[in-house]
Amino acid sequence: MNQLTHCHIVVLISGSGSNLQALIDASISSNYKISAVISNNPDAYGLQRAERDGIPIQVINHRAFASREEFDLALKQAIDQIDPDLIVLAGFMRILGSDFVNHFAGKILNIHPSLLPKYPGINTHQRALEAGEKEHGASVHFVTEALDGGPVIAQEKVPVLQGDTADELAARVLEKEHIIYPKVVSWFASGRLHMQGQQAFLDQEPLPPTGVEVKHEPIAKHSDISLPDHL
Ligand code: GRF
Repeated sequence: MNQLTHCHIVVLISGSGSNLQALIDASISSNYKISAVISNNPDAYGLQRAERDGIPIQVINHRAFASREEFDLALKQAIDQIDPDLIVLAGFMRILGSDFVNHFAGKILNIHPSLLPKYPGINTHQRALEAGEKEHGASVHFVTEALDGGPVIAQEKVPVLQGDTADELAARVLEKEHIIYPKVVSWFASGRLHMQGQQAFLDQEPLPPTGVEVKHEPIAKHSDISLPDHL
């Protein structure tokens, strides 16, 4: 296993950056370091969070580019300059093209607010409510050319409660996102996680299509992860 001593990550954001904040907070006692935060949105609140913590920021405004390809190229060049070990998409609301994704293959993670493969794309909470789902949740996955379709690494479920609004459900899911994302980043940083082809591996074992199910007791002080039997 290839242990990365100082895993340098770049976090891409577009908005509030609450997942970025969770990554910043966890990094204090974890095995990765945030080298830079890049936003496509100059007004993203996450930029203030990064600055508050002394993390270098960059804005690459997609509106300044004539095409998606030109924006992707500028982003790729900026990231190549930083040369991180991992790119972490945290509420980054741009679709990245195949040139970008293939250039950094196996080095890009995303968090998505649904139990993939259910509900790729947007409005996941509303769609889950309308479908009458009993449970919903968050997924961390490797990014490939397929939108929200790369191999899933980890998921955490939440119940859908009677009378939930989309906002209430979103808040319940977001709480889990803040726990599982730093955890998965630390797996990558310790060399436990990789992608080969369209398959994610943890500790050299192929992960099932829905990844590892992470479970945390909502009130208990300690947290735990239930790994599938073969892990
Ligand atoms: C999160 O729900 C994330 O899963 C989704 O967008 C939201 C971003 O939240 N991709 P934040 O910017 O991290 O607060």
